[in-house]
Amino acid sequence: MPAPALRVAVLISGRGSNLQALIAAQRSGELAIDIVVVATNRAAAEGLHHAAEAGIATLALDPGRMPDRARYDAELFTRIAAFTPDLIVLAGFMRVLDAAVLAPWAGRIINVHPSLLPKYPGLHTHRRALEAGDRIHGASVHFVGAELDAGPLLARTEITLEPGDSAETLAARLLPREHALLCRCVQWIAEGRAQLRGDVVHFDGMPLSEPLRV
Ligand code: GRF
Repeated sequence: MPAPALRVAVLISGRGSNLQALIAAQRSGELAIDIVVVATNRAAAEGLHHAAEAGIATLALDPGRMPDRARYDAELFTRIAAFTPDLIVLAGFMRVLDAAVLAPWAGRIINVHPSLLPKYPGLHTHRRALEAGDRIHGASVHFVGAELDAGPLLARTEITLEPGDSAETLAARLLPREHALLCRCVQWIAEGRAQLRGDVVHFDGMPLSEPLRV
């Protein structure tokens, strides 16, 4: 009997193009997952429409109603946990999460970030890569630790900066690569090929000495 599909919760704050890529990969049969809920801190997040169209449960919890960050995060994660996900994917979720809610999910929560981490955690990654005169830019997927955009790296995708690039052209060129990266990483986790053991990412049972390339 085939293993049950990995139950995935996706957290978004905006456009949701990474979510859309996961839904498309699932529909085409490339990705054997079950997206059990899409949660957001912004009820106006455009990506919620993709979830609704796909018949996926949605959960919007407004932090404005809860001044205390730790309480908000605890409530959000309690509600997400009710969907019994195996994996939580932060896909453009623009909030720093409290270490206390992350701890029980260690090894079961990943983030996609548009830079070659550990370079440029936080915002404006394309502009910062341009300003630094980098030749190579990219996106990363990592297991989430307590720090912002930090934690053991699973995989990266790289693009080369071209003369005349702007933050916009870089973003446009990177985005489809980022989508493919995220889908591949989720697939590896679903297949049991990628795992976090302690602080070390393992792939096919072997510790990774550097992030995989997609
Ligand atoms: C992505 O670049 C993601 O890596 C970053 O925010 C962007 C979200 O895009 N953290 P989308 O909402 O998935 O379209």
